[in-house]
Amino acid sequence: MSEKKNENSMEDIVSLCKRRGFVFPSSEIYGGFSAVYDYGPYGAELAKNIKSAWWKTMVQENENIVGLDSSIFMHPKVWEASGHTSGFSDPLAECKKCHTRVRVDHLLEEAGVFADEKMSAEEINKLLKENKEKLKCPKCSSSNFSEAKEFNLLVQSNLGNFTGDWSKHPVYLRGETCQGIYVNFKNVIDSTRVKIPFGIAQIGKAFRNEITARQFIFRKREFEQMEMQYFVHPDEAMKIYEEWRERRWQFYMDLGIKKENLKWREHENLVFYAKAAWDIEYKYPFGFKELEGVHYRTDYDLKQHAKFSGKDLSYRDPQTGEKYIPHVVETSGGVDRAFLAVITDVITKEKLEDGSERVVMKFPKNLAPIKVAIFPLLKNKPELLKKAREIYDNLKSRYMCEFDDNGNIGKRYRRQDEIGTPYCVTVDFDTLEDETVTVRDRDTMEQERVKIGELESYFNF
Ligand code: GAP
Repeated sequence: MSEKKNENSMEDIVSLCKRRGFVFPSSEIYGGFSAVYDYGPYGAELAKNIKSAWWKTMVQENENIVGLDSSIFMHPKVWEASGHTSGFSDPLAECKKCHTRVRVDHLLEEAGVFADEKMSAEEINKLLKENKEKLKCPKCSSSNFSEAKEFNLLVQSNLGNFTGDWSKHPVYLRGETCQGIYVNFKNVIDSTRVKIPFGIAQIGKAFRNEITARQFIFRKREFEQMEMQYFVHPDEAMKIYEEWRERRWQFYMDLGIKKENLKWREHENLVFYAKAAWDIEYKYPFGFKELEGVHYRTDYDLKQHAKFSGKDLSYRDPQTGEKYIPHVVETSGGVDRAFLAVITDVITKEKLEDGSERVVMKFPKNLAPIKVAIFPLLKNKPELLKKAREIYDNLKSRYMCEFDDNGNIGKRYRRQDEIGTPYCVTVDFDTLEDETVTVRDRDTMEQERVKIGELESYFNF
C-alpha cells in the first residue's frame, strides 16, 4: 500500500466535506449565503471533539483556569472601550471599472507583495500606489482602484424597542469572545478562589463582516473562537507568555497535526499596546495562514474597561498586598480553522495492492466523528441483524457508533474510511456460534477476531 499525502486541493476538500456530511454551504437551497457555512452530522461531531479537546487541556487539566460562557450581545460601550467601533476594520478599495470592492491586503498578497493584516490605511495606500500595475480586480482584471478606505467589521443588530432609526443605537454581535472575559474579570475573582496567575477560558461564536468571502471555512462571517485570557503580574508576563507559546504548539501536536505543516510567525507590526505577538500558522491548501494567535496584551484591555465603566478592575495580591492592574497573555484560536487544518492534515489517498484507490481520513481516535461502525454481514438474515443491533445498543452509550446494513461490506468499509471511523465491527455466522466478531482497523485494514465481551478493552479509548 503506498500513500499520497497532503496533495489535497481545496476543491477536493470542499467536495469531500459536502459529500460526506461534514460542511454544507449555509441556506444552500436558496443559493447559499456568502462566507457562512453549516456543519453537517459528521462535521458537528468533529467540531465538538475539537472543542472538547481544547476545553480538556485548558480548563479541566488546569487548576487555575476557569471556564466562562458569556453572551453574544454585550453593552455597546464594550466595543467602544475595546477600540472595535473605531479601529476594527479592513482596508477596502473599489475597482473603478466594475465597482467591485476588494481587500487591499489580499490584492497585494495575490500580486506577491507582502501586506500584514494589521497595517494602517496609510501604509496600505502607499503599497497600493507603489504596486498599482501589478494589482488586478478579481472580477474584471482592471488595475484601476480607488484609494483604500477602512471598512468596519463589527456586525450590527437591533435589540429592544426602538421605534426610530435603530442604526443610530446599534448593538453588535460580538467581534471576539475575549471581551466577555474582560468584563467578567471582577465577577470571577469575587465568586471563585482564583489567584493570579490564573486564566479564564471560553468557546463561542464571534461575528465579523468579512468582505472577502473565500477560502471555505477559513474566513467565515459567523465563526467560533476558543480563547483564553491569562491574568498575570507584569514582572512574570514574558516568562508566562513563552510557556503558553509552547503549550499551544503542543495542543496542535496532540491533535495529530503534522509538525511540518505548522510554523510560528512573529507579527512585524505590533499594535501599540502589545509587547509580543506570534501566530501559529498551518499549511492550508492556499498556503501558511493563521490558525491561532498567542499575544501579550499588557494591561490594555482591563485598563480600557476600567476607564469606560468607571469600575475598579485592579487586583490586590492577598499575600503582599500589592494592588495592580493585571497583564494579559491571550491564546486565541478558531474552531473552524482548527477543523480545516485537521481535515486537510488527515485526508489521505492510498493506492491499494489490487490497484484501486481509497480515501481515508486518519483522524486521531479522540477526534473521529464516529468511533465504531457495526455491520451485520447480511441484511436479510434476522439473526445477524439482531446480534449486530445488540452490540450497537451496548456500545452506543460509551462511543459515538453507527449501524450500517447497506450494500456490500467492501462499500461499507470505504464509506467509514472516508469519514475516518477507526474501527468497523462485522457480525457474521461464526458470531452466532462463538460470540466473536471481526474488527477491522481503519489504518492498517487488518482484521482480527475479538470476543464481544472484550470489545471495549480492545478499543481502548
Ligand atoms: N481576541 C483576539 C482575536 O480575536 P484574531 O486574530 O482576530 O484575534 C483569533 O482572531 C482567531 O480567531 C484567529 O486566529 C482565527 O483562528 C479565528 N478567526 C478570526 N477571524 C476568523 C474568521 N473570519 N473566520 C474563521 N476564524 C476566524
